[in-house]
Amino acid sequence: MAFETITVDTSDDITVITLNRPDALNALNQQLLQELCQALEEADGSDQTRCIIVTGSEKAFAAGADITEMADKSYVDMVGQAYFQAQSERITAIRKPVIAAVAGYALGGGCELAMMCDFIIAADTAKFGQPEINLGVIPGMGGTQRLAHAVGKAKAMDMNLTGRFMDAEEALASGLVSRVVPAKKLMDEARGAAAKIAAKSLLASMAVKDTVNRSFEVSLAEGLNYERRTFYGLFATQDQKEGMAAFQEKREAQFRDK
Ligand code: HXC
Repeated sequence: MAFETITVDTSDDITVITLNRPDALNALNQQLLQELCQALEEADGSDQTRCIIVTGSEKAFAAGADITEMADKSYVDMVGQAYFQAQSERITAIRKPVIAAVAGYALGGGCELAMMCDFIIAADTAKFGQPEINLGVIPGMGGTQRLAHAVGKAKAMDMNLTGRFMDAEEALASGLVSRVVPAKKLMDEARGAAAKIAAKSLLASMAVKDTVNRSFEVSLAEGLNYERRTFYGLFATQDQKEGMAAFQEKREAQFRDK
């Protein structure tokens, strides 16, 4: 299917999904989120793709959920449609690693989308915020939850209560993003990180994603148990044999996802 609100480019083993509603600063409407979910799921199911990058434009990763689309909705509409719930669940169900490459505004649902990815690489132009308070609402896709996990209560409260934006430097210092690079180098940096990930065993990469995410859901003891079981399970893979043999033979491992 041809997408209208995103572009998708797969080269080598990396799929780059670019949000593309420039006139609305990539505001997330139903169509965009539907297309994004479909593209993510296709990449997740593809034999070629080993890592996914979600990005936007120089000016905006995404300036939030589409306010025009939301403005006239009633409570019953929102509950009845379970507004963006299914899409959020589909995005976070992707099993392959997903990197958010963020330049410009990542606000509201845009910040939440970036936080649904596995980690965020930011351009020095990035601005993160949860300005929903200015609209008389609160975040609805993780802006009070994932942001609090990422940056702690003080900054999550500050951002959500004042609606102020956090620049890239503050986002790095706060743990919201893993790296900050000059805007011109953003995609090179993201592709470099994706290529590193793509060279690993996908079975192990998916296990990392699954177990780190589990740490946000369960107690430490449960999480450690889950990690240990997953670690043991990887000894059933050829990639574990290959990885450890390659180390002993002082050569690069050739992982085959088996
Ligand atoms: C719809 C949007 C939009 C949005 C920007 N636009 N953000 N349209 N929904 N979230 C549109 C503008 O209306 C405008 O269209 C065009 O994009 C350019 O935006 P400007 O405001 O002219 O640009 P600028 O002056 O540079 O300001 C940039 C900005 C501002 C600071 C990002 O646009 C802004 O504050 N946007 C809203 C941010 C926000 O409140 N996000 C949270 C949404 S609620 P026209 O046609 O006039 O040119 C949310 C809840 C998620 O995300 C919960 C989900 C369950």
